[in-house]
Amino acid sequence: MDFRRTAAEPWFFTGSDTGFYEIEYRNGWEIRQMSRKVIIAGNWKMNKTGSEGRALVEALLKEVASFSESEVDIVVCPPFTTLAQVAPVLAGTKVKLGAQNVHWADNGAFTGEVSAPMLKEAGVEYVIIGHSERRQYFGETDETVNRRLQAALKAALKPIVCIGESLEEREGGRTEAVLRQQIRGGFAGLDAAAMAGVVVAYEPVWAIGTGRTATPEMAEETHAFIRSELAALFGAECAAAVRIQYGGSMKAANARELVAQPDIDGGLIGGAALEAAGFAKLISEALAR
Ligand code: PGA
Repeated sequence: MDFRRTAAEPWFFTGSDTGFYEIEYRNGWEIRQMSRKVIIAGNWKMNKTGSEGRALVEALLKEVASFSESEVDIVVCPPFTTLAQVAPVLAGTKVKLGAQNVHWADNGAFTGEVSAPMLKEAGVEYVIIGHSERRQYFGETDETVNRRLQAALKAALKPIVCIGESLEEREGGRTEAVLRQQIRGGFAGLDAAAMAGVVVAYEPVWAIGTGRTATPEMAEETHAFIRSELAALFGAECAAAVRIQYGGSMKAANARELVAQPDIDGGLIGGAALEAAGFAKLISEALAR
């Protein structure tokens, strides 16, 4: 990433627990290289009962024993009912617990929904918001994404907000317009400080569960666009720090070259997160970038 500012401009310099800046001057331009900590999250979707989930994380903890927490954030996002059985196994370990959705109200007449305080008490740290399957099958919109996001931030849950275009939108040349709208709608009302706590997941809908992955170049181009949109809204410093995951048929065989791209900071993994050894292999590939 390269945000050009003249060296004479005032500039704030901050680090965070998820990365640090290297600032270089080239030909009088300040070039900000942000080193962001890799984040790999497994989205189990509607898979794994409580006992199956417990077995999976027990196996996963053994597989990831050698990974350093300072190098990678590892997250698993089981279904709501599985959270309770998985949480005690993961408590205090390097694998963090996430949920797949959160409602905007703390409680009330919202049949079938789960609130942020409920997730917090269940031991949840991260939450996926606006996954394309929620948008496609359950009427999720940028407005509901935004309301859920605000609730997650208020409760100090770490949101993973999903955006991405459909095949029709990509082929119609509308990818950037669609992403811009999802970003502006989904992140409306946030300031740079709030945005610093958000992980963005770019998931081209046509690549999810299809085995069809975006090429590293195509994914990088889109990630760079997303980062430039974040810079326009929240400033270069914030945009340089936000982690952007790629999602859509990421697996051990392609994780390394995807995460090697300068603006790809990890992955949101569906199918390949359902088996411990394969998921651990994917993480090690991503770290070998
Ligand atoms: P996939 O799913 O890895 O199975 O394509 C990714 C996702 O939907 O988060």
